[in-house]
Amino acid sequence: MRTSIRAGQVLLPPEDGLPYVRRADTMRVEPGAVTVEDGVIVALEDDPGADRVIDLGPGAIVPGFVDCHTHLPFAGWRANEYEEKVTGVPYEEISRRGGGIASSARALAAASDDDLLAQARAVRAEMRAAGTTTVEGKTGYGLSRDGELRALRVGREVCDRMTGLFAHAVPEGYDAAGWMDEVDALAAEADVDALDIYVESVAFRNEDLERLGEIARREAVPLRAHVEQFNANRSVPVALAAGARSVDHLACLDPADIGPLARAECAAVLLPGAEFLGAEETAPGRALMDAGAICVLATDCNPGTSPVHSLPLVIGLAVRRYGWTAREAIAACTHNAAWVLGYDDRGSIEVGKRADLVLLDAPVEHIPYRFGRNPVAEVIAA
Ligand code: NIG
Ligand code: FE
Repeated sequence: MRTSIRAGQVLLPPEDGLPYVRRADTMRVEPGAVTVEDGVIVALEDDPGADRVIDLGPGAIVPGFVDCHTHLPFAGWRANEYEEKVTGVPYEEISRRGGGIASSARALAAASDDDLLAQARAVRAEMRAAGTTTVEGKTGYGLSRDGELRALRVGREVCDRMTGLFAHAVPEGYDAAGWMDEVDALAAEADVDALDIYVESVAFRNEDLERLGEIARREAVPLRAHVEQFNANRSVPVALAAGARSVDHLACLDPADIGPLARAECAAVLLPGAEFLGAEETAPGRALMDAGAICVLATDCNPGTSPVHSLPLVIGLAVRRYGWTAREAIAACTHNAAWVLGYDDRGSIEVGKRADLVLLDAPVEHIPYRFGRNPVAEVIAA
């Protein structure tokens, strides 16, 4: 089956073969066409003789969105906490009272595999309708050896990549160092695509991040880390020294860490949905982009800080709050996000790459501008 799509705009990388795009204002937006066959992009021109010919008029063809930071699978939602938060109770206090991650852990333990899977599939379908063709998920709501392995098993059914966020919260009966011994054993036993840790006053410390770095090196998987979300802990230098693939959140990033992060081969994964809904600080997105960091956007889809599934919505937030162009924001959740997950077969429109394409009914600038509207006319997933 051969499909040919013409459009007023095609979003292309500055050149072919790049692993990621720094200073993504170099992305090209040009009128053109894309022809795909058997799940692969075969030409950047149209083929009037194709089995299916689509004309998007002034619309745009962009790469399928890659959501490289979500917390699928999880059980239920926490709308009650959101109401507490907006009326003035801080996240860390909700968390200390047994809400937060612990409450999602109780829900996960109570849910059947079927229920867990059904909810994850429903969220994934919503993501797909908003243009997401590749999804990463994390463990982290298991909070026990068996619970984490179960989350991993269920997550594998729904997500393209699974990260072991074994160090998400310190389970009852443990201190951080004690639970890190369990994390060490879990990492040796479980088959994960990356390891992750939540460094925060209510969770783990920089020394635990350092230890996870050693574990990740031993297991030969990428290290990722939730850092600088609610407080400045100066975790970025620690993550860079440990060779992290990404540092995620960064709302409280110390200005002194912008330069070293921008020079490193480590992505800055920004999560403006969590920043907005949690009234967090705003990550220095413009400064990171201008300094040449590998800037990435993701939903952080989870039942606590960011019950958000839509990357078009996240693009809208990033453009307004970081002062990014639509091109920069789209590169962040396509090309650069694919690099975070270790994919070189997707994330950009190049001949030979997977035919993961989002067909927009409007120019790319309309994604942030018509904020909250779904601009996706059709999704082609390979
Ligand atoms: O990325 N910050 C830690 N982990 C998640 C939130 C988890 C939760 O509240 O359930 C995050 O924001
Ligand atoms: Fe997260």
